[in-house]
Amino acid sequence: MKTKIEDYLREIESYSANGADSLEQFRIRFLSKKGIIADLFDQFREVPGPQKKETGQLLNTLKNAVQTKIEQYREAFEQQVVTGDSNLDLSLPADFLEPGTRHPLSLIRSEIVKIFANIGFTVTEGPEIEDDWHNFSALNFPPEHPARDMQDTFFIESDPDIVLRTHTSSVQIRTMEKEKPPIRSIFPGRVFRNEAISARAHCIFHQVEGLYIDKNVSFTDLKQTLLYFSREMFGSNTQIRLRPSYFPFTEPSAEMDISCNICSGKGCNICKYTGWVEILGCGMVDPAVLENCHIDPQVYTGFAFGMGIERIAMLKYIVRDIRLYFENDLRFLRQFVAAS
Ligand code: PHE
Repeated sequence: MKTKIEDYLREIESYSANGADSLEQFRIRFLSKKGIIADLFDQFREVPGPQKKETGQLLNTLKNAVQTKIEQYREAFEQQVVTGDSNLDLSLPADFLEPGTRHPLSLIRSEIVKIFANIGFTVTEGPEIEDDWHNFSALNFPPEHPARDMQDTFFIESDPDIVLRTHTSSVQIRTMEKEKPPIRSIFPGRVFRNEAISARAHCIFHQVEGLYIDKNVSFTDLKQTLLYFSREMFGSNTQIRLRPSYFPFTEPSAEMDISCNICSGKGCNICKYTGWVEILGCGMVDPAVLENCHIDPQVYTGFAFGMGIERIAMLKYIVRDIRLYFENDLRFLRQFVAAS
C-alpha cells in the first residue's frame, strides 16, 4: 500500500492541468466518493497495527497534495477568466513592480515644513478658491492695484468677488481672523496666476507662507528666522541679503537673496554672475492688516514671508525649466529621492 501511495504522490507532483475540464476529471479521480483516496482509506482498515501510523501519515500527505494542486489551478484558472488570457504561463516570473518616488515639489515642501516645525511653526492650509477680501482687500491692496487686474488674476466668471488665490498670503488673514496671538504658522499651498507659461513662470505654482504674530516681534526676529531657514535649506555657509521692496500688506517690506548655492557666490549663469539669487518676499505685517483681523497693532507686531516652492526646488536641484515639474515625465521624476 505504501508503494502505491508513493506512486500516486509522484503522479500528483508531476500532474499539470491544461484546462478546467481536465482539472475536474483529476478531482473526480482522486476525491470523489468512489475515488482513489476513498478507496485507499477503505484499504487502510486492513493495514496491520505496527504500520498504521506511517501509512496513515502518508495517506494524509496524499490527500493534502491533491487538494493543494486543485486549489492552485483553480486560482490560476479564475485569474485567466478575469484577464482573458488562455496562454497564461504559471512558470514565468512575476512582473517587477517598480516602487514610485515622491514628486520633487513634495520633497521640498516637506523639507521646508520640517525646518520651520523645528522652531515651533505649526502648519495650516487654506482654500484655493478665495474671495476678494482674503486675497486682496484685507491685505491692504488698494482697489486700483494692478494685481487685481484680469491680466494677473483668474476670476470665476459669474462672480467678480471670487478668485483663484494668487498667493498664500490669503491664509494669513484666515488665520488671524480665527486665532488669537501668539501665532506662529506656515501655510503651504497651490496658487494661480494668469501668466504665460515659460521656462521661468507657470500659471499654477506653489508657495509657503510664514506668519509670526506676538508681542515685541521685530525685524531682527524676521532676519534671524530667514537666516536659519536659508542655512538649513542650502547649507551652513549660505549668506542672506535683504533688499527694500514693496508689498501692500507689509511695512517695511523686503526681498531676500541668498548667496548663489551653485557657484558659492563666485558668479554663474544661474545667478546671472551677481553671486545672489532671490528666493522670497517678506516684511513686518502692516498695522492696517492686523486691524482688519481685529488684532490690536498697539499690542502686537509680527512678520510674514512668502516663497515659491518651485523656485527653491529649481535652485536646490539645479533645474532650469519650471515646466519640468508639471509634465510628469518619469525620466525626470525618477531622479529625485528623499534626502533623509
Ligand atoms: N505674497 C507675496 C508674493 O506672492 C510674498 C510675500 C508674502 C511678501 C508675505 C511679503 C510677506 O509675492
